[in-house]
Amino acid sequence: MKHLITLENWSIADLNAVLDLADRVKSSPENYLDAMRRKTLLMIFEKPSLRTRVSFETGATQMGGHAIFYDLATSPLSSGKENVADLVRVVSRYVDIIMGRLFEQAHIEEMANLAGVPVINALTNYEHPCQILTDLQTIREKKGALKGLKLAYLGDGNNNVTHSLLFGCAKMGMHISVGCPKGDEYEPLDAVLAGARRIAKRTGSKIVVTDDAALAARDADVVYTDSWMSYHIPQHKQESRIKVFTPYQVNAKLMKQARKDAIFMNCLPAVRGCEQTAEVIDGPQSVVFDQAENRLHAQKAVMLKLLESVEE
Ligand code: CP
Ligand code: NVA
Repeated sequence: MKHLITLENWSIADLNAVLDLADRVKSSPENYLDAMRRKTLLMIFEKPSLRTRVSFETGATQMGGHAIFYDLATSPLSSGKENVADLVRVVSRYVDIIMGRLFEQAHIEEMANLAGVPVINALTNYEHPCQILTDLQTIREKKGALKGLKLAYLGDGNNNVTHSLLFGCAKMGMHISVGCPKGDEYEPLDAVLAGARRIAKRTGSKIVVTDDAALAARDADVVYTDSWMSYHIPQHKQESRIKVFTPYQVNAKLMKQARKDAIFMNCLPAVRGCEQTAEVIDGPQSVVFDQAENRLHAQKAVMLKLLESVEE
């Protein structure tokens, strides 16, 4: 049985299979109306969400399944009356598939290790694999292929989305340049870089981390940014982080460094005037709403692939 906990350990063949299935699900949703019939998805949330919650629930409904939203704040877990291990062993007796949006990667790993059903990482502080599968689907749609393209990521490098992009780009043979401030607080984790570089060696992907935003963006096919204030960052850090990240804002001047036909992406939520200007996110190069739509299709494909792995 398979889980989706990190992109690092998914094979290139499995990634391509999910991307192909996501395209089929998108173009012919009528072929999947019963694909999750009588299946229940449990959605465990420890952090806020718009896209993830609504797209997973809608995806399950559209394929004839049912989704349960479970807020950890109202769980015996949050008051210390229960532990993750017991929670996951109980719910595995009820539902067919679980997704969790949690703080700690260790907790989603623990769930996967103990669950009797497939588990999906719907974002932790460390990774956001569902988002990056969606992004790869979107880039492939817009650019025709992935291998050899350059993606420039600007802003917070020590970030779940950045980490999953590093793994995802490396697997698909895409080049990735991360433009971020120097220092452990802002750069991708060493373990992620080491893992991505190991994969890149096999696929020919080039990985660069630089504090020079213009250099990172130069000749990029895709310019990508994410929030400077991820859900787990404490509010009191806002002022200092705005100062540190402002040189990495994606604005019209920075977009000029990229290729003329570059697309702009943001996983959303977005703050206009922070990680990008309004003219970029609302401008002609932006694909953020097509990207957001693809969450629905890519996650349907992920659920189908994982449910299929139970039957194998
Ligand atoms: N991109 C994304 O995961 O959005 P939500 O936080 O709204 O789910
Ligand atoms: N890095 C962001 C992604 C939100 C979808 C966060 O963790 O809040």
